[in-house]
Amino acid sequence: MKNHIAHRNIATVAFVLAMFSIGPLFAQTRMSIPGTAFSSAPGSGKVVVEDVAGGRRFRGGAGAQVILKAVLPRPASGSADHKVQRIVVHFRTSRLGPSLRSVQLIGSEGVSYHMETNLEGDYIAKEIDRANAWTLKPESATAIHLELQFPIGFDSPINPGEFFLTSVDVEFATPPTPPAKVPTNIDLANSSGCMNCHTVEKKLVGPALRDIAAKYKGDAGAQARLEEKVKKGSKGVWGSIQMPPNTNVRDADIKTLVQFILSLK
Ligand code: HEC
Repeated sequence: MKNHIAHRNIATVAFVLAMFSIGPLFAQTRMSIPGTAFSSAPGSGKVVVEDVAGGRRFRGGAGAQVILKAVLPRPASGSADHKVQRIVVHFRTSRLGPSLRSVQLIGSEGVSYHMETNLEGDYIAKEIDRANAWTLKPESATAIHLELQFPIGFDSPINPGEFFLTSVDVEFATPPTPPAKVPTNIDLANSSGCMNCHTVEKKLVGPALRDIAAKYKGDAGAQARLEEKVKKGSKGVWGSIQMPPNTNVRDADIKTLVQFILSLK
């Protein structure tokens, strides 16, 4: 089929629908839907579809309303939540050719999001940003629809122009990674092996840590002495069982551990 469209009239556009969520700025997961993933929905009339380098070309009849549809991709679970922040439609069209009327997200219960674009004709360098806080329901929206309106008559009464779709980018907000867990003194006591023989409240192999705190309450020299004993071992203070030297625990950690034990009330 001969292409009647004058190439100088074909402009490129990135049409941006911005949906900024309120709150902290999230990192983004971008999923790109290639133009070739779109097809015309039933009821669009006769649409000539051609794959050409870089995308897919759609030509509808004069006056035709054409819906282009594709499956909406979803980030792998865990990598992002399902809030769509931005949809970017990369397309070009003929001057006075078809217009992109709306962008819709479709779920099991019908249209879950609809944005009128009503962009007609000449898309030279036109880029539109609109803020709209909107959350895609992960269980409902499964498809994206681009609604096109082909004009009645173009270069000639029988050529309503073309809509060339490169891709549609969908950006999902990625929730911030939870802050790393701050290790507690108990974690340190666990990883240092102390809790194999001690608990905070009850005597185990060794005395309860709270009992040690009570015993040395008000003893200004206890910190230094107990650091020494934890390091080299202890016997005879609490009974017949000895505490072996804790040779594999760093001095700085022993200091922290003894401070922690003596701080117990
Ligand atoms: C193998 C068992 C065992 C491990 C492991 C162990 N303890 Fe003990 N701990 C004991 C026993 C038994 C005593 C009582 C010793 C005594 O009667 O002198 C004791 C006593 C203590 C005391 C009191 C010493 C005193 O003079 O009153 C402190 C403080 C203490 N442990 C801290 C620690 C810390 C900190 C760790 C880990 C780095 C640790 N323990 C690991 C068994 C252990």
